[in-house]
Amino acid sequence: MKNRQLRLKRNIRQGEPVSLDLFDLVETDIPEPNEGQFLVETKALGTSPAQRAYLMGEMSRFHPPLAIGELMRGRGVGPVIKSRHPDYKEGEIVACSTGWQDYSIQDGDQTKMPVKTLQKIHDPQEPLYLHLGTLGASAFAAYYGFLDVGRPKAGETVLVSSCAGGVGSMVAQIARLKGCRVIGIAGGPQKCAWIQDVVGVDAAIDYKNEDLYEKLAELVPNGIDVYFDNVGGETLDAALKNLALRGRIVVCGLISTEYIDPPVPGPRHYYNLIYKRARMEGFFVWDYFEDFPTAEADLVRWYKQGKLTPTERVFKGLESAPEALQSLFAGVDTGIKVIEL
Ligand SMILES: NC(=O)c1ccc[n+]([C@@H]2O[C@H](COP(=O)([O-])OP(=O)(O)OC[C@H]3O[C@@H](n4cnc5c(N)ncnc54)[C@H](OP(=O)(O)O)[C@@H]3O)[C@@H](O)[C@H]2O)c1
Repeated sequence: MKNRQLRLKRNIRQGEPVSLDLFDLVETDIPEPNEGQFLVETKALGTSPAQRAYLMGEMSRFHPPLAIGELMRGRGVGPVIKSRHPDYKEGEIVACSTGWQDYSIQDGDQTKMPVKTLQKIHDPQEPLYLHLGTLGASAFAAYYGFLDVGRPKAGETVLVSSCAGGVGSMVAQIARLKGCRVIGIAGGPQKCAWIQDVVGVDAAIDYKNEDLYEKLAELVPNGIDVYFDNVGGETLDAALKNLALRGRIVVCGLISTEYIDPPVPGPRHYYNLIYKRARMEGFFVWDYFEDFPTAEADLVRWYKQGKLTPTERVFKGLESAPEALQSLFAGVDTGIKVIEL
């Protein structure tokens, strides 16, 4: 048995799709844990638009680049299969920075990490990839961003962009659970049908084929109480223009403009933050790390009660990881994109 790794072969160019060509598939021996370490078998990997920045060869807003020849970074989930660490027993399930490889050595020392990311799964559910998506990092971003920053109340109107995406599909489900009226924005009729039929939004806006401003005027005449923003750009502007009094904008991501260089000019309708006494606030999910067991317990409970529908789109095999990452930008797939190894 060997450890397969995807290592960066060359940097990505502006606008170039993420593909397997950017990586070397390398086989190494499976590493042995030293005293104080443990070995994790990666059963599944998650995806995040932020991972594109690692490939660019220059410092992005948050992320240091990967060096050529370095293992691709990424979050994975799997069992501890050998342990020489007193706090991590063989058979326990963890989600952590495994990188794009079959096996990883972890030392459990979170103080050395730029952000804490090693999470013990207390009530593992099958398939394990759920702990990267519906019951893991994607859902945690939805849970903390929406509940802690958005502070919704039952009966309020919530607008979610990239609602057919990973985080967005979870925000919409949590908003529905909390008794909100949910409007989802997605690209194309199929995605709009999916967010209505599977995610359960009250109304959908196809931003690629409908006029966002007209549809918002029709669907939210009294304004948006919470806008959960995954995309930035023109959609953020339309939401700003249609805010309710004391509306809240949760800035989660800006996939529509994030990798445009030089950065695009800011929103035109931000004056409405004054007129509507509104709040616009960003968040970073890993800041909530110490509280993850609370989110995990809530999400697992809702899932077992049948109140959460898993939305994972599963790619198969380590070699499909670049395609899974690219699918975030191509916009063809619905739900949370995960890779099962
Ligand atoms: N703040 C945090 O801590 C945190 C944590 C996790 C994720 N995030 C951010 O949250 C957002 C959602 O993450 P995710 O992993 O769930 O990704 P995602 O929403 O599944 O991303 C893929 C979707 O984004 C939409 N999209 C892609 N390019 C677009 C464009 N140019 N304009 C508008 N929409 C576009 C597409 O949907 P359509 O086909 O519907 O356009 C695509 O299917 C990202 O911006 C991510 O960076 C932030």
